[in-house]
Amino acid sequence: MTDRVIPIDDGRRAKPLPPKGESGGSERAGRDTLGRHLRDLRISVTDRCNFRCIYCMPRDVFGPDYPFLARSELLTFEEIARLARVFKDQGMEKIRLTGGEPLLRKNLERLIEMLAAIPGVDLTLTTNGSLLAKKARALKAAGLKRVTVSLDSLDERTFRMMNDADFPVSEVLAGVDAAAAAGLAPVKINMVVKRGANEDSIVPMARRFKGSGHIVRFIEYMDVGATNGWRMDDVVPSADVIRLIDATMPLEQVDPNYAGEVAERWRYKDGAGEIGVISSVTQAFCRTCTRARLSTEGMLYTCLFATAGYDLRGMLRGGSSDEEISGAIARIWQARADHYSEIRTAETAKLRKIEMSYIGG
Ligand code: GTP
Ligand code: 5AD
Ligand code: SF4
Ligand code: SF4
Repeated sequence: MTDRVIPIDDGRRAKPLPPKGESGGSERAGRDTLGRHLRDLRISVTDRCNFRCIYCMPRDVFGPDYPFLARSELLTFEEIARLARVFKDQGMEKIRLTGGEPLLRKNLERLIEMLAAIPGVDLTLTTNGSLLAKKARALKAAGLKRVTVSLDSLDERTFRMMNDADFPVSEVLAGVDAAAAAGLAPVKINMVVKRGANEDSIVPMARRFKGSGHIVRFIEYMDVGATNGWRMDDVVPSADVIRLIDATMPLEQVDPNYAGEVAERWRYKDGAGEIGVISSVTQAFCRTCTRARLSTEGMLYTCLFATAGYDLRGMLRGGSSDEEISGAIARIWQARADHYSEIRTAETAKLRKIEMSYIGG
């Protein structure tokens, strides 16, 4: 039996845009209601994926009849780049391209070139690694700085069970090697830890990448979306992950690289590199959350766990000027009060939130 909620509208609801301000156009986003600046923009470039990870796109929901977005609904590269420039004016300094699987979007290198041309912006991408061996060099040439690769186990059977697409470990590892060789370094490797599914892979994963220069991050399984059947019992707290690894490969904590870094950093005492833990469930990091998210069809979400977004595509295609769009973003940000991870309960977990495959990781 399952008590999972299958969404009817999967959170793609639009909220009304805030009314125009008095300032005649040059509004600044500044701080939101909890004092946080807008610094990061995560842009989803496709809602499709060639994997069906059990914690993200369960195959029984994302089957052959799932209503993925039509081509005409997607923001064009020109529209994305225009919005990115407007966000830059509002203080954004980092872009992460996500999906679905971003490397499935045709000619992504062209978008990367356009975004890399915006000065002062750190440009990165999160991928499942399946197409990385083929594309790493072109991505680097287009101006991408770094990549984060998802890999949930080194054990063949466990990995195939997690990705539910029969995809082999070796090809993701080839992608990681190709990314490092192309200079997309340091490569970060994301492992979502789900109790009873891949806990046994924690220590082997740490051991395999210790001394490699790559940084593995262990992520607590989250209740994103409404289809993965999340239960608190499925979460392995990061403190347990650290204890497990520390028992054979001693660790010490390191200061963050920058204020508001999502991952908590730990380094091996013998100098063989570092790992990270991302503890959205047991240690919420909302207080320093500077992230905005743009969906494939141009909806702006101010939280990963949002139940509705703001339709920026409507503004783009309705003839709004950059200044008008910028003002709308400023007002949306100023009104932002999101802090979902601090208020999560078994009940909120069942809300019809947007899916991670739609809004990106
Ligand atoms: P870098 O510091 O540039 O590596 O970026 P990052 O640490 O944000 O890395 P990444 O984008 O790979 O994020 C890692 C994972 O953290 C994501 O896949 C999510 O699972 C989780 N995550 C990122 N941002 C948020 C957030 O705002 N809220 C929550 N709850 N989880 C997040
Ligand atoms: N919990 C935690 N992280 C998730 N991701 C996707 N779904 C979940 C979830 N339920 C993250 C993974 C992946 C990225 C694209 O999104 O880290 O690497
Ligand atoms: Fe695809 Fe990434 Fe979601 Fe897995 S986590 S189904 S690779 S979008
Ligand atoms: Fe930011 Fe929402 Fe994640 Fe909190 S739950 S860190 S507000 S995206």
